[in-house]
Amino acid sequence: MTLAEFIAALEALQSEASRVFAGVQSKEDLEEARVRFLGAKKGAFREVQQQLGKISKEDKPQAGQQLNKVKKALAEALENATDSLKEKDSGSDSPTPDPTLPGIPMDLGHVHPITQTIEHLKEIMGRMGFESAEGPEVEGPWHNFVALNIPEDHPARDPLDNFYLATAGATAGEEGSQLMRSQTSTVQIRVMEKRQPPIRIVSLGRVYRPDAPDATHFPMFHQMEGLLVDQNVTMANLKTVLRVFANNYLGSDVPIRFRPSFFPFTEPSVEVDFLWNDQWIEFGGAGMVDPAVLTAVGYDPEKVGGFAFGLGVERLCMRRHNITDIRDLYSGDLRFLSQF
Ligand code: DAH
Repeated sequence: MTLAEFIAALEALQSEASRVFAGVQSKEDLEEARVRFLGAKKGAFREVQQQLGKISKEDKPQAGQQLNKVKKALAEALENATDSLKEKDSGSDSPTPDPTLPGIPMDLGHVHPITQTIEHLKEIMGRMGFESAEGPEVEGPWHNFVALNIPEDHPARDPLDNFYLATAGATAGEEGSQLMRSQTSTVQIRVMEKRQPPIRIVSLGRVYRPDAPDATHFPMFHQMEGLLVDQNVTMANLKTVLRVFANNYLGSDVPIRFRPSFFPFTEPSVEVDFLWNDQWIEFGGAGMVDPAVLTAVGYDPEKVGGFAFGLGVERLCMRRHNITDIRDLYSGDLRFLSQF
């Protein structure tokens, strides 16, 4: 064998080996290539190496040099292939995702008991034909007092009993001043100003009064206002609606009573109580809409009349769920709230 032939064989071996090692995809490929090129007994390198004996004496040193170069190159190709296989495998140590496993449950929020109560009350009143109306929580004296027949010197307008806002150029309680509404009766006025009878609405929302918090008071609470205006409305209609409401929300076994009372915007007026642990608890006021209120919104009290009521939403919710302290509802304590 001539030196040229020997070198040509080495070159062929090296290029074939580097092609094969570069294409290694698995451990099995790698082992196969290693045996094929570097196997101690039948490896391709070993075969070329055995030809060295056939090279003439004077060409041998050069042939040996070439042989060592290719041996080194093959060893490197094996090492590189081993490394890149390791790199590729390191990612696949993590388990294969199983798309049939159930998902991780999300921690869903929970509707506040008062919001649940509001939805429930709307639903009950809706079945009696009362649609839901809304009004702003920041009001002026007209809607909160004047149109409701609450005179200038009435204690309900006292700055100490209301959250007046600092309004430039206006004295608290006078036209142009603003306050957080102290009752949802404001919505009666807003609805009647916009629409003509027949009217049958409820309005559920927040009201604000500077009361010190205790078991039954909170400076922010909710009311359900009701208003019905039509022809030939009587107090019997009012009593029926409230009785049917109480049956639906509290249960027909819950005793309720109507007590004569006074509100500037109703005449006659009643307070409505329910019995709870042998005690009569007031849960709202009601009455026949005062002619002065109908006049204030431009209605003719000779032609139409109506009844109105305002009930405390917290008290209703507390009675139904046997909650004894209103502050628990606003504590933000999920151990309490998530029970409902
Ligand atoms: N607005 C009254 C209050 O907050 C409750 C009330 C009483 C509302 C009688 C009414 C009503 O509609 O007719 O104390």
